[in-house]
Amino acid sequence: MKPPETSHFSRKLPVILFLSCCTAACVALSVPRSARPQTPPETTPKTAVQQFKNIEVLKDISAEQLIPAMQFISASLGVECEYCHVRGAFEKDDKKPKLMARKMITMMMAINKDNFEGHREVTCYSCHRGGTNPVATPVISLEEAAPAENTGNGENSALPAASQLLDKYLAAVGGAAGLQKITSREAKGTATFSGQSVAVDVYAKAPDKRRSVMHLKDGDSVTAFDGQQGWLSVPARVHMMSAAENAAARIDADFYFPIDVKTMYEKFRVEPGDKIEGHETYLVIGQTEGQPPLRLYFDTQTGLLVRLVRYAETPLGRNPTQIDYADYRETDGIKVPFRWTLARPGNHFTIQVAQLQQNVSIDDSKFAAPPTPPPPQKPSTP
Ligand code: HEC
Ligand code: HEC
Repeated sequence: MKPPETSHFSRKLPVILFLSCCTAACVALSVPRSARPQTPPETTPKTAVQQFKNIEVLKDISAEQLIPAMQFISASLGVECEYCHVRGAFEKDDKKPKLMARKMITMMMAINKDNFEGHREVTCYSCHRGGTNPVATPVISLEEAAPAENTGNGENSALPAASQLLDKYLAAVGGAAGLQKITSREAKGTATFSGQSVAVDVYAKAPDKRRSVMHLKDGDSVTAFDGQQGWLSVPARVHMMSAAENAAARIDADFYFPIDVKTMYEKFRVEPGDKIEGHETYLVIGQTEGQPPLRLYFDTQTGLLVRLVRYAETPLGRNPTQIDYADYRETDGIKVPFRWTLARPGNHFTIQVAQLQQNVSIDDSKFAAPPTPPPPQKPSTP
């Protein structure tokens, strides 16, 4: 591995560190004033305007929602934080795009209020589509338009029922009885991102505990869920997950996901799925009123889950996370994916398991957050 140039490293490192969970959290760590909760998070959450220095439009959102909203903006425009912010002084209004973005937030809210009864139908992404300058004129393409398969009048009679697909998935991985014979799992392997590989350990314990550790050169980066609360840590820093982050971590930590998924959502809908790495899929969408949906892509042949897409709600739109599962292997009577790729707008990493052991004893303390370290020092370089 070549030594990273410092400037590049300091920008990229936090992203890498927290690839294994929400990059939101890592950015939160690098923002001086977004202090970690010292007291249990049950107290009235602070609003953004109470916690940050220079908030004019996103005043009433909860403070922990600000960074996820910023990530949504960055992904929608395809830019990094520095496009709008002075590094180390996020409160400054020195950059024009930040001023423009403030106007845009107000505009977006007005569009939704005036036209969509306040439902968040139009977001930054609706116009920006991953670029800073929205395209206003139709594009000419000489490629054949893909035939519209689903012309929208509802009935997809050829599709199996959601319950059938969820049952098939459960059977494909070994059935409820088979899964329940396993109560813990320890995997060792490598994580690959931006051309480098590091060693990874993943510990999981029924019903809902998980810890993954990336052994980076500068120390371990940990993402964990103890059954109640998720947390992330790098040497000398711990971030307790927000409500939206916890909801996502809980899905990842669900040891009996193929059993539990059936009762996780109020209703399920089926659509034709994308072709994923050569596999035809059915898409099952789990929905519960007032919650972001969960999208599950099942191999039409094997019934196995090949892709999961979940969303973290932010005040401006939803931040997506996509996990592709592959290399399912039969181990102790059940099928376990030995490879998965976790992707978010702007970054992704792949974990390949080399060794896997099940029904090993893992102490609960392994999943508990370390004590909060002393307050972070002032950011070193301006
Ligand atoms: C397209 C422009 C844009 C991008 C990109 C952007 N922000 Fe912001 N950011 C804003 C605006 C506008 C505000 C002020 C919002 C308000 O006034 O309500 C803000 C406010 C903030 C604040 C509050 C600062 C304070 O103390 O007042 C933080 C922290 C922040 N952003 C972090 C980030 C991070 C981290 C990223 C990258 C993930 C990011 N922003 C990306 C436009 C942007
Ligand atoms: C209804 C469409 C629409 C929506 C929604 C929208 N924008 Fe824009 N935005 C535009 C257009 C059009 C421009 C280009 C204006 C120009 O060229 O002068 C623009 C320009 C910008 C720019 C300046 C880019 C540059 O040239 O540096 C920023 C920053 C920006 N938008 C941020 C946002 C953010 C953040 C959101 C969501 C809160 C958002 N926009 C939502 C249409 C939209």
